[in-house]
Amino acid sequence: MPTVTKLKNFMNRRNFFEKFVGALFGGTALAFVAPALAYLFPNKNFGATGREFTEANGQLIAPDTITEDSARFGMLAGKPAVVLRRHGELVALSAVCTHLGCTVAFNASEKIFQCPCHGGEYDVEGKVIEGPPPQPLERLNIKIADDKIILA
Ligand code: FES
Repeated sequence: MPTVTKLKNFMNRRNFFEKFVGALFGGTALAFVAPALAYLFPNKNFGATGREFTEANGQLIAPDTITEDSARFGMLAGKPAVVLRRHGELVALSAVCTHLGCTVAFNASEKIFQCPCHGGEYDVEGKVIEGPPPQPLERLNIKIADDKIILA
C-alpha cells in the first residue's frame, strides 16, 4: 500500500504544479545558459588554431590559390573574411559590412566591394566609397605559415 500512497502524492495537483513550474524555470535557465556555453566553447569546425583562413566547411585555403587582383572569400573564426592579392602581396579584410553586418561581395570588374543590403561600397583597401557604412572594412593581419594563411 505504500506505493499507492506515493503515487497519490505524486499525482496530486500541487505536486504536479510544482514540477511543471520547476520544468518551466529549468527550460528557461537552459535557454540562457546554452548560448553562453556555445560562446565560451565555440564550434572548432574551422582551422586547427581558429586563426586559419578556411572555407566554410573548415578546409584550408592555400595562399597560391589567390591570384593577382582576385578576391577569395572564406572564414576566420566563424566570420566571413576576404583575402586579395594586390601587387603580389596578400591583403586580408573582414567581409562584414560595417553598416549592419551583411557580407560584402567583390565586383572584380570595378575592383570594389559591394554590400547587397543597402548599397554600401568599399575600395580594395576597405575604405568606404559609397553608401551608409560608417567605417572601413576591418583590416586583418595576415601571415603565411606552413603554406597556410593565418589571420588575426
Ligand atoms: S549592411 Fe551593408 S550597407 Fe547596410
